[in-house]
Amino acid sequence: MRRMLVAGNWKMHGLGANLPEIAALRVALPDPRPEVIVCPPATLLHRVAGALAGSPIRAGGQDCHWNEGGAHTGDISAAMLADAGAAAVILGHSERRADHGERSETVARKVAAAWSAGLLAIVCVGETAVERDAGAALAVVGAQLAASLPDGATAANCVIAYEPVWAIGTGRTPTPAEIVGVHGAIRAALASRFGAGMARGTRILYGGSVKPGNAAEILGLADVDGTLVGGASLRAADFAAIVAAAG
Ligand code: 13P
Repeated sequence: MRRMLVAGNWKMHGLGANLPEIAALRVALPDPRPEVIVCPPATLLHRVAGALAGSPIRAGGQDCHWNEGGAHTGDISAAMLADAGAAAVILGHSERRADHGERSETVARKVAAAWSAGLLAIVCVGETAVERDAGAALAVVGAQLAASLPDGATAANCVIAYEPVWAIGTGRTPTPAEIVGVHGAIRAALASRFGAGMARGTRILYGGSVKPGNAAEILGLADVDGTLVGGASLRAADFAAIVAAAG
């Protein structure tokens, strides 16, 4: 009942010169089985959304402000993302938590703002290597999840992405048992707070060093409903291969 979702996070990569990758992706994925979302930097969002017009592939943002508008120099509101063509937004990515000191309470406000603008919120959680080595992975992820999700979360308005910080951009991935353990704990936490139906319907993505070579194994694990892809989403051929593994 949960449709797989493969989302690409271009992070701070991408210039107009990279737009041919979007055209190539359209050609490679005319009718993808999973839901597919590409999240370019904000500067490219409008052009990427335009390049995807008429395609089932949708565009998304990588962050938004928690206010609808106002004196917030350099920030972008959820409504601005939607206006530029976004259908979704990544929130609470560990790089924003690290680079900008973003706290889960702030993430929750951003999630609410995303919902107000009609965007799907892709809410990221994940422990550091030090936290995992201390045996605190489930506690850290559980605390981030609880504080990052406002009341009102549904299977339709949010997706959870589990991204262990130590697996991002490192080529290291958790063992299958580690992924299944965290995803199962996330689903249990969703069930106890939002009810069994919400938990059963909500997609939980894995992210961190997903490549064409390991995607099928990871996507085949229990409670893995898709993936949030960083580096491998920059090349259409690699990203399309990961989408194919999810289909
Ligand atoms: P990599 O796929 O490059 O490890 O990045 C994962 C990620 O952070 C996606 O949001």
